[in-house]
Amino acid sequence: MKIWPAHFFAAVATSFILTGCNQSSTPGAGGTIKVGEFASLTGKDATFGISSHEGTLMAIEEINADGGVLGKKLELLTEDTQCKAGESATVVNKLISRDNVIAILGEVASSRSLEAAPICQQNKVPMISPSSTNPDVTKTGDYIFRVCFIDPFQGTVMANFASGTLKAKRVAVFTDVKSDYSKGLAKFFKERFKANGGEIVVELDYNGGDKDFKAQLTSIKAANPDGVFVPGYYTEAALICVQAKQLGLNVPLLGGDGWEASTLVEIGGDAVNGNYFSTHYHQSVGTPISKKFNENYAKRWNGKTPDTMAACGYDSALVLADAIKRAGTTDGPKLRDAIAATKTFPAVTGTITINENRDASKSAVILKVEAGKFKYLETIQP
Ligand code: PHE
Repeated sequence: MKIWPAHFFAAVATSFILTGCNQSSTPGAGGTIKVGEFASLTGKDATFGISSHEGTLMAIEEINADGGVLGKKLELLTEDTQCKAGESATVVNKLISRDNVIAILGEVASSRSLEAAPICQQNKVPMISPSSTNPDVTKTGDYIFRVCFIDPFQGTVMANFASGTLKAKRVAVFTDVKSDYSKGLAKFFKERFKANGGEIVVELDYNGGDKDFKAQLTSIKAANPDGVFVPGYYTEAALICVQAKQLGLNVPLLGGDGWEASTLVEIGGDAVNGNYFSTHYHQSVGTPISKKFNENYAKRWNGKTPDTMAACGYDSALVLADAIKRAGTTDGPKLRDAIAATKTFPAVTGTITINENRDASKSAVILKVEAGKFKYLETIQP
């Protein structure tokens, strides 16, 4: 008899979760409540979707182990957005019309959440983004929520850090014009930095997916800034750090939550050290709920340390489950009202109250990249 190693079963279980359970089209088949998730499991920003999915799935498993909600188990149907424009709309349409999910969790990236939100709104299926921070996401309509802060706050946090802590007076801004997140965060950073008395000495653009940033970095260096704000995602941010060093641009580079991935260090090596970014969570935050989350996450996912996307994904599923319980039903309008009424909910990334704009007003953390690790510096209250 052949004995299969444990990791064989783990692999089978995971692939079933990602693909195999999307077959049924009967709502609530097998006594489950179907929840849809869309996430970038492959492609350029895959760590966003993978981490977010791991956190989300772990929350669903814990809720089910605890008896589920309304006497039923939650069933998570996950679709890969592949980091491709157009794919979020396609898969969310499928989750709603083919699978009849009662709610949608996702996405991490604002541009992809913005693509799917109108579909959820039209179908009156509540959507909760774990970590999309562009303000326009929830402005789509009253069925669209998020469990994280928004970029006017994040931009302010980093502008105050640049002028207050780093004493920067002259800063350059380098924006990904393909990303709604990047454009928004750049705008909010600039507004606050100028209001603090600082000067934006030069503004340059790139396109997500670019690999060569030397022309723009040469212009940035010529403007002789005290720092550069790079509100992009980790792949480009890491290459920008490397090429800035190669050109002798030796000032701190600053970013937002989009920098957070261990891949930042894998791509950027030494060049990412000494730089700073803001985000939603760090494993050393130290609240009892976050300690338990870190332990359980390491057990569930092969000793991994959870990152921000994992924590936000986890929280999005907890907030949804809590709302289903309070609503007493999975009916769209009632569930929407219950999510909107979320107050002081204890979550891993902080206490979540959904405000009148359907956003969560929560604290941010500032991290420094040091010796290839993300070091926690401080927590900034809203
Ligand atoms: N906030 C980013 C966006 O809106 C996504 C992100 C969240 C990236 C958390 C990393 C960590 O696009």
